[in-house]
Amino acid sequence: MSLAASSGSVHVRAPGKINVYLGVGGRHDDGYHALATVFQAVSLYEDVIARDADDFSITVTGVEDDGSVPLDDRNLAMRAAKLLATATDHPGGVALQIRKSVPVAGGMGGGSADAAAALVACDALWGTGLSAARLHDLAARLGADVPFALHGGTAVGTGRGDQLNPALARGRFDWLLVTSDEGLSTPAVYTRLDELREEEGALADDPPLSLDVPIPVLQALRTGDAWQLADALHNDLQAAALDLRPDLAQTIERGVAAGALHGLVSGSGPTVALLCADPESAQAVQTALREDGLDPLHVHGAVPGARIIG
Ligand code: C5P
Repeated sequence: MSLAASSGSVHVRAPGKINVYLGVGGRHDDGYHALATVFQAVSLYEDVIARDADDFSITVTGVEDDGSVPLDDRNLAMRAAKLLATATDHPGGVALQIRKSVPVAGGMGGGSADAAAALVACDALWGTGLSAARLHDLAARLGADVPFALHGGTAVGTGRGDQLNPALARGRFDWLLVTSDEGLSTPAVYTRLDELREEEGALADDPPLSLDVPIPVLQALRTGDAWQLADALHNDLQAAALDLRPDLAQTIERGVAAGALHGLVSGSGPTVALLCADPESAQAVQTALREDGLDPLHVHGAVPGARIIG
C-alpha cells in the first residue's frame, strides 16, 4: 500500500485538454464518429480526492450548484470508481471529492479528467495496482477522451479518439481560454455536424478512406513553433459549434485582433482557445481582452496526465 493510501485518502490531479487538430469522419453504428485528432493537455486541472468509504458518493466544488454536474451514476467519476471496483472485485466503496477548474460542458474534457483521476485515485487507495494498459482499457470504456486524460502530454488520437500514440512535441505553447457560462452538449454538436454535411451534400456515404492528422500539425509540434502550429490549427466540429453559438466566431476574431496568433473552438466547444506566441504575448493579449470585457484564462501545454499529488 502506498504512503498516500495508508492515510486513507489519495489526491489525484488531471488536466483538461485542447484538440489542436480534430478531423471527424463518418458516424459508425455505435453512434461514435471516426476521429483523427491531436490532443494537448493544458495547465487547467481537476482535483479528485478519494477516501475510503463503505458506499460510493461524490461531492463537487468549484461549480454552481445548479445540477450541471450530476452526483449519481451519470457522473463519469462515479462510473469510473464503480467500474474499477467491479473489474478488481473490490468489496468497499469510495467518497470522491472533486474540485473543478475545467469548464463544465466546455469541450475541454473536464468530465473525462474527473474519470481518469478517479481511476488513478481508487487504484492507489484500494491497492489494486493495475497496469497502465488495464487502466487505459477501463478508461476507454468510460468515454472517448478518458484515456487521453490518463496519458496527458501531446498525443494523436484515432478510432473514437481513444487509440493514442504520443506525439513528439517540444517546448511550451501558451493558450488563452475564453470560457462560456452556457455549455454545449457534445452529442448535439456531432449531430449538427452530420446535418450540416448532409445539407451541403458533403457527407459521403462512407467515412473518408484516409483520416489522418496533416503532417504540418505534427511538424509544428515537433519544432515547438507556435507560428507554425497557429497555421495548422483546425477543428472539423467548429462549423457545427459556431452554427449553434454564432457569438464564438466573434470571440475568435477579438482574440486575433488583440494579438493572438490564431484561435479555434476547443473540441465540441464552447470554450475558445487562442494560441499566443509566448508567455509575455499571452499576458498582453489577456490584458487587452480584459479591457474588452472578456476574462480569458492563461494556460500552457503540454502537461502530464492524471498524477498522484503529495
Ligand atoms: O465518449 P464521450 O462520452 O465523451 O462522447 C460523448 C458523445 O459524443 C458520444 O455519445 C457521441 O455522441 C459523441 N462522439 C462521437 N464520436 C466520437 C466521440 C464522441 O460522435 N469519436
